[in-house]
Amino acid sequence: MRGVVLAGGLGTRLLPLTKVTNKHLLPVYDKPMIYYPIEALTKAGIKEVMVVTGGNNAGEFLRLLGNGKDFGLSRIHYAYQEGEGGIAEALGLAEAFAEGRPICVVLGDNIIENNIIDAVGAYKAQGGGARIMLKEVPDPERFGVPVFDGEKIIRIEEKPKDPMSKYAVIGIYMFDSRVFDIIGGLKPSERGELEITDVNNAYIEAGAMEWSTLKGWWTDAGTIESLLKASNMVEKSGANKIK
Ligand code: G1P
Repeated sequence: MRGVVLAGGLGTRLLPLTKVTNKHLLPVYDKPMIYYPIEALTKAGIKEVMVVTGGNNAGEFLRLLGNGKDFGLSRIHYAYQEGEGGIAEALGLAEAFAEGRPICVVLGDNIIENNIIDAVGAYKAQGGGARIMLKEVPDPERFGVPVFDGEKIIRIEEKPKDPMSKYAVIGIYMFDSRVFDIIGGLKPSERGELEITDVNNAYIEAGAMEWSTLKGWWTDAGTIESLLKASNMVEKSGANKIK
């Protein structure tokens, strides 16, 4: 399994912090934000990682991460997303890197306390398709929200006004190689982007989606409030120490 970290976008919800730098280079407690999603992958035993970035300061990722020695990687691959085509478009740039293998995708502003070894193991055992991870949150309307029929997810709604469950679909996804065909067939959403939620809904419609819940805390860090929360949570739990 290969890992993909999506670290593009303009980070407009963090202005003016992102006026001159990329969101994923901002500090979360004592490390740049992008360290956390890369560690989530390496802690799950994933050794080959691509970082997809975009916008300004793309070169700074190379300066910061180099060949990935600090993470025990022998090499990090990089791709550059032009424009603001959305998370799914950014993921499409990893097709050649994936070489037909399954991938674990982590959004660059998602920070977890524990690790995803169990979910990766469950994905490997399920024999293809996709797996998403859920976390109960007090504010599901900020995220992708699953709609259940019993234990089965029947669709995901992106930032719904009236959430149908109390779960967020967190930014960690496992896909087989058909993800790139799905992305190729997507139409831009109302905000003009290819949405990761549409990718997940395509897997759900195909009856090829499983889910896991995440143990331990999770937060995104894409708003001023959540960036501060992320720093405080890392500080409090000592998750900043590479285990
Ligand atoms: C994205 C996804 C959303 C997901 C969230 C997790 O939202 O579109 O479904 O729940 O990441 O962090 P964004 O924060 O990019 O708006």
